[in-house]
Amino acid sequence: MPKPRLAAGTLIACFTALTAYAQGSSSPTPAVQGNAITKVQNLPNGVELTSGPTLLRIIALRNDIIRVRAGHNGTLGEDASWAVLPEKRAASILVTPLKTEGDAGFSTRSIRVAVSLQSGELTVRRADDTIVLHESLPLAFTSGGFQLTETMPVDEHYFGLGDKTGPLDRRGHAFTMWNTDAYRFQESTDPLYKTIPFFLMFRKGQAAGVLLDSTWRSSFDFGVRAPAAYTFGAEGDNVDYYILAGPTPRAVVESYAWLTGAAPLPPRWMLGFQQSRYTYTPASRLMEVAERLRTDRIPTDALYLDIDFQDRNRPFTVDTTTFPDLKSTLAKLSAMHFHTVAITDLHIASAPGQSYAPYDSGIAGDRFLRQPNGSLYVGSVWPGPAVFPDFTQAATRAWWGPLYAPFAAMGFEGFWNDMNEPSIFDSPTGTMPLDTLHRIEEPGFRTRTATHAEIHNVYGMENSRATYEGLLKLQPDQRPFVLTRASYAGGQRYAATWTGDNSSTWNHLRMTAPMLKSLGLGGFSFSGADVGGFAGTATADLLTKWIEVAAFHPIDRDHSEKGTGDQEPWVGGTAQEDIRRRFIEERYRLMPYLYTLAEETSRTGMPMLRPLFLDDPQATTDGHPIDIDAGVESEFLLGHDLLIAPPPYPEAPDAYTVEFPSPHWFNYWTGEVVPQPPPPVRTPNAPAAAMDRIPLYANVKPELATLPVFVRAGSILPIAPLTQSTDETPAGPLTLRVYAGDECHGSLYTDDGKSFGYRREEFLRLTFRCEVRPDGMTLDVSPREGSYAPWWTQVRVEVYGWKPAAGLLTINGKQSSASIQQAVNALVFTIPERKEGSRITLR
Ligand code: NOJ
Repeated sequence: MPKPRLAAGTLIACFTALTAYAQGSSSPTPAVQGNAITKVQNLPNGVELTSGPTLLRIIALRNDIIRVRAGHNGTLGEDASWAVLPEKRAASILVTPLKTEGDAGFSTRSIRVAVSLQSGELTVRRADDTIVLHESLPLAFTSGGFQLTETMPVDEHYFGLGDKTGPLDRRGHAFTMWNTDAYRFQESTDPLYKTIPFFLMFRKGQAAGVLLDSTWRSSFDFGVRAPAAYTFGAEGDNVDYYILAGPTPRAVVESYAWLTGAAPLPPRWMLGFQQSRYTYTPASRLMEVAERLRTDRIPTDALYLDIDFQDRNRPFTVDTTTFPDLKSTLAKLSAMHFHTVAITDLHIASAPGQSYAPYDSGIAGDRFLRQPNGSLYVGSVWPGPAVFPDFTQAATRAWWGPLYAPFAAMGFEGFWNDMNEPSIFDSPTGTMPLDTLHRIEEPGFRTRTATHAEIHNVYGMENSRATYEGLLKLQPDQRPFVLTRASYAGGQRYAATWTGDNSSTWNHLRMTAPMLKSLGLGGFSFSGADVGGFAGTATADLLTKWIEVAAFHPIDRDHSEKGTGDQEPWVGGTAQEDIRRRFIEERYRLMPYLYTLAEETSRTGMPMLRPLFLDDPQATTDGHPIDIDAGVESEFLLGHDLLIAPPPYPEAPDAYTVEFPSPHWFNYWTGEVVPQPPPPVRTPNAPAAAMDRIPLYANVKPELATLPVFVRAGSILPIAPLTQSTDETPAGPLTLRVYAGDECHGSLYTDDGKSFGYRREEFLRLTFRCEVRPDGMTLDVSPREGSYAPWWTQVRVEVYGWKPAAGLLTINGKQSSASIQQAVNALVFTIPERKEGSRITLR
C-alpha cells in the first residue's frame, strides 16, 4: 500500500521545528549517504530497520520508554543485561506504525519515534511535539566500538552519570566510564569509582533520559568536541540503550528505577550517625571511641572496622592479637546499641598451603580469574599477592556468600566491599590486564568467556551482589547492609555507596552536594561522602561545618585515613563538639522523616537527596533548571520538603543568596516565614535581573554554628523525641510540624526497622492533610495502614504560619478542652493517637 504523503506544509513545519530545536547548530542535519534505510519491518511493538550491514531494532517497552538495539553484522548482540531487569526488557506495548513520508517508525500514546529513511537518523518526540532526542548523525560503528551523536540545543542541560565531580550540569564537559580507584580525587578527576551510564536531558522544564547499557569503557561528551552536539558511545559492538521520555524529571527518575530496580529498604540504623576510621585498632581503642560517643551523648548507630582488624590484611580473617575476643567486643557494642560494620575486600590473599580458607575453597572450586594462558591472575593489593573471584558466575557468588557466615554469627551487622573497581597496586593501569578472563555462567546470559575489558565496570557491582545475596541467604529475615565503592547501573539493588577517597578540604565539602545529587539521580539514593574528608586532617571548623551539612545527607559517616589526625565529633574542643552534637541530634529528631524518605526510594526510586529541579522543574520563569544558578549547586532538597542551603564557598565569610524553587518557605529552625525580598535593584548587571526568574530568594550571612535549612509551605513533617541510637524507642509523643500552605500534606512510614516483616503488612503508614478554609483549619490524620503499632500514644501538633480566630479546637467532632498554646512561631496542642485516624478542626 502506498504511504500517504505528508502535506508540504507539514514537512516545512517539521524542518523549522528541528532547526529551532538546534538553535545555532552550526551544521544542519547532513543526509549521510550510505546510511539510507534499505529495509523496514514494522513489528507489533516497534520497528526493525536495515541499513547496509547494520540492523536496528527499536521497541516500545512502555508508552514512554523505548529500547534501541543495533548490531553491524546483520544481527543484534545478545539480549542480556546486568543493569536492566529481565522482566522490564521483556515488556512491550502495541505501537502504531508511522505513516510519514521519508520516515520509518511508530508512535505510542506518549511519543513518536521516527528514523529518516534517507539518513538513518533517529528522532523521538513527545505527543506535544517537543523533542526528546534528535540524532544529528546516524549511529556510527567505529573500530572496536560505536558512537551516537545527538543535536544539543543551546538551552538544554544534562545531569547524571552518577559518580562524577565537577559542575552538576554536564554541558560543556566530557566523561569516561571506567571504574577507578581515584585516591585523593580532585574536582577535575575522571573517571571515578562507579559506572552509571545514565543521564537526564533537561530543557524548558521538561526532562528525558538515556541509559546506555554497556559495561565496556564508555564515553559521554556534552559539547566538548562539537559545540552543537552531544555524543555517547562505548567500546564493544553491542549497541543497547534506552530512551526515557519523561516529561517530568521525576518521571524520568522513576522510569530509570522501573528499568533497573529501586534500592531495597535498608535497615533503619543505616540512617543513624556512623563513626569510622582507617582503622580503630586494637579492640580497646574501638571500645574507647564507642564509650566516648555514649558519654558525650553523640547519637550514633554504626561503627566500622577497616582493614587492620584482619590478620595481615587478609579478607575474612581476624587479627586475634589486637582483637582477641571479637565476638564479645561486638556483643558489648550491640548492648550499647551500636551496629558494627566490617570491611571485606574481594582480593583473596594468594596463600597456598597456609590453611587460609577463602583461598583454599576458592581454588578447590575454581572460583578465581585466570589469564589467557590459563594460569591464575595474581595482583598485589592490601594482603600482597592476591587472587580475584569470578563474580559473573552465579556459582562463584554462591561460594562467596557463605564466607560471611562466621562474621555474621560473630555479630557484625553490615559489610563493606571496598577496592572492587578492582584496584591493583602493582599494575601500571591500577587494575587488572584487559585480557584477564572472566566466565559468564549466569541465568539470562549465554554461557561464555569474556575479557576484563567487558566485565571491568560491572565487577564491583557483582561483588556487592554476591555479598548482598549471600547475607540474605544466611539471614533471610534481616535486611542486609552492604556498602560498596565500585558499581554499575542497577547496583543500587545490592548496596549503598559513598564517594570514595575525598580530602579534608573546604572544596571537598563543597563538592559533596553535586556528587550526591548526581548519585541519587542514578539510583544510588543511599549515598554519602566521608564526613570530615578521608585524606588529610580536617581543621576543627571544617569538621564542624561538614558534620552540620552531612546531618542532612542520606548516609552520615565520619571516616578518615590512617595517619591523619583524629576526626571524631569531640576533636577540637567542647565548643565545636556542642555544635556538632546539635546537628547530629537534629538528624535523630528527623528520623521519622528520613525513614519515610528511604521507604519512598525503595518504592519509587526517588532519591532522598535531590537537586531542586527534580521536584520543581518549572521553578524558573525562563525554564532553566534552578540548580545551575551560581551557588545553587550547593543547595539540595532532602525529600520534597526540606531545603538545605550551605554556603557555596563554605570557608568564605561572605553573605550569599539562597534561591528557592517555589514561592513560600519557612525557616526550619525558627518557624518564621521566609519574607519576600524587596524587588531586585535595577542595575545593568545580570545578577539582580536573574532574581526576577526565580520564585523566592534570601540573603544569608554564614556563621560557623548555623546552617540554613528551610521547610516548604504546605509540608507536614513527622519528628521524634531525641534518642541516642535508632534502636531506642523514642519516649514521648510524635510531633507533626504543620507548615500552612497550598496542598498541605505529609506522610509517615515506619516498621521494625530491620526485618522483612513489612512485606507481610507489618508496617505503619499514615498520611496527613491540612486545609485552611475561611472558617478555620482542618488537619486529617489517615487511619493506620498496615499492622505495625506506633511507638507513640499522643501526637503533638505544631502549626506554623496560621492563627485561629477563636482559639477553638475540635477533635473528631468533639470540642476539646486541650489547650492550644502559643509558642514563639507556632500553635501547639496534643491529640491522642487513634487507629482509625483523626480529624482536627481549629477555629
Ligand atoms: C580505600 C577506601 O576508599 C577507604 O575508605 C579505606 O579506608 C581504605 N581503602 C582502607 O581500607
